[in-house]
Amino acid sequence: MGNLLILFIASLGLCLFVALLYVLYNYWWVTHRVQFIMSSQGIRGPPYEFIHGNNKQILQMQKEAYSKLMALTHDIFPRVLPHVYSYIKKYGKNYLSWNGVQAQLVITDPELQGDSLVTSESEKRARQRKLANYAFHGESLKNMIPAMIASVGTMLEKWKDKEGKEMEVFQEFRFLTSEVTSRTAFGSSYLEGEKIFDMLTKLTLIIGRIFYKANIPIIGKFWKSVDEIESNKLEKMILDSVMKIVKQREEKVMTGEVDSFGHDFLGLLVNAYHDPDEKNRLSIQDVVGECKTFYFAGQETTNSLLEWTTLLLAIYTDWQDKARAEVVEVFGNQNPNSEGITKLKTITMIINETLRLYPPINSVVRKAVRDVQLGNLVLPNCLDLNIRFIALHHDPALWGDDVHLFKPERFAEGIAKATNNNAVAFMPFGMGHRSCVGMSFSITETKIALSMILQRYTFTLSPTYVHAPLPNLSLKPQHGLHLLFHSLD
Ligand SMILES: *[C@@H]1O[C@H](CO)[C@@H](O)[C@H](O)[C@H]1NC(C)=O
Ligand SMILES: *[C@@H]1O[C@H](CO)[C@@H](O)[C@H](O)[C@H]1NC(C)=O
Repeated sequence: MGNLLILFIASLGLCLFVALLYVLYNYWWVTHRVQFIMSSQGIRGPPYEFIHGNNKQILQMQKEAYSKLMALTHDIFPRVLPHVYSYIKKYGKNYLSWNGVQAQLVITDPELQGDSLVTSESEKRARQRKLANYAFHGESLKNMIPAMIASVGTMLEKWKDKEGKEMEVFQEFRFLTSEVTSRTAFGSSYLEGEKIFDMLTKLTLIIGRIFYKANIPIIGKFWKSVDEIESNKLEKMILDSVMKIVKQREEKVMTGEVDSFGHDFLGLLVNAYHDPDEKNRLSIQDVVGECKTFYFAGQETTNSLLEWTTLLLAIYTDWQDKARAEVVEVFGNQNPNSEGITKLKTITMIINETLRLYPPINSVVRKAVRDVQLGNLVLPNCLDLNIRFIALHHDPALWGDDVHLFKPERFAEGIAKATNNNAVAFMPFGMGHRSCVGMSFSITETKIALSMILQRYTFTLSPTYVHAPLPNLSLKPQHGLHLLFHSLD
């Protein structure tokens, strides 16, 4: 008995000792080694704090920034990403930062930016990207235009009772983009689609909350927080819902009721899920992943873009008049069509200037898969690259002293001229595969909505509007977007 007890205590002691070594190794030794490797190459940053990294400090800075209001200027970078702004000032354009124990090289220097975007991708990933590109471009995109027009029409119909009164359009645009995204992604199954997108919104908000939470070593493996339990539950529900729609489509094909899985985005995915070539086949997880991409690329970015464009046009009514003149010239009082949409030059300039000042997504994160050479830097393989392009969009060294002014005429002679041939200075949706696939989709939807609004209304800012851009999934007006609409006829 005595021996057993000694054995038990000894093994317990050994376990604790191993656990301690594990924690010390991962949470102290590795982090200090990475800091040393980077600082020997001239990259500094806020010091790593045990377990938390920089998260406590970052959350504190964000809390402070988001509780304050700002003047109605477009110098939004210090408010939107207060920590990045202050770390750049202190440590330079590229710095090392810690999300818990995860090291991140934050890059806001155009020189390094170019290099960091070249990453290899797997064959499967390439195929998924091709699918998404296919769904978002060319003929497929053209086929989505009637659904977009119909949804904008429904929204404008509701506005008729509110003419001359103040309207909060943030929610209006949220409903609009949500409907368009589920109609285009899920076609006839769009009501189920809306439910899936609702769950995705919830899930992403929770993941956002978990992101800055410390992961307590070892204990975190056994004990889950309320948020983690909830997010696992949502993941499961989303998977089940997608499975259900996929099954329904399969059954319809099997019983001969229809002869294809459908020509909407989901139809393309179900086809790929049934691909006879195993190498190309998507798993059900991939299908869910693609739905997430569609949701972000389609809904979140469009929602954000449409809001900030409308805000800027409400402030700069001279540009609103120019935009309206163009719409009337191209479409008269008819609904937009795909040929006309490509002719909207002034509106494209306005949209690009909006994307520069208010990029819907402010950064992309890349994993360094092996030891990477980036410019003159050699990076350890555990490092994430965090490319904060909002910093570039607001950098006076790249855009000039008028960087914070709304000047769509910058883009009058195209991108190259506007950016002084510095292609990485303007990355409206990030250059990541995930974020850029939806660009044409977002811009088309935005152009349609703007055109149809401009045909019917003039609009100005309401005195109750409070300027407070907040990164919440995408960049949103924290207190809504209050405008006054006046009917044109
Ligand atoms: C606007 O930006 C897009 C995306 O970078 C680009 O393809 C397009 O040429 C730009 N248009 C103008 C008028 O600047
Ligand atoms: C972020 O957006 C969600 C809805 O999408 C909302 O419920 C939440 O209140 C927003 N957060 C803040 C801080 O405004």
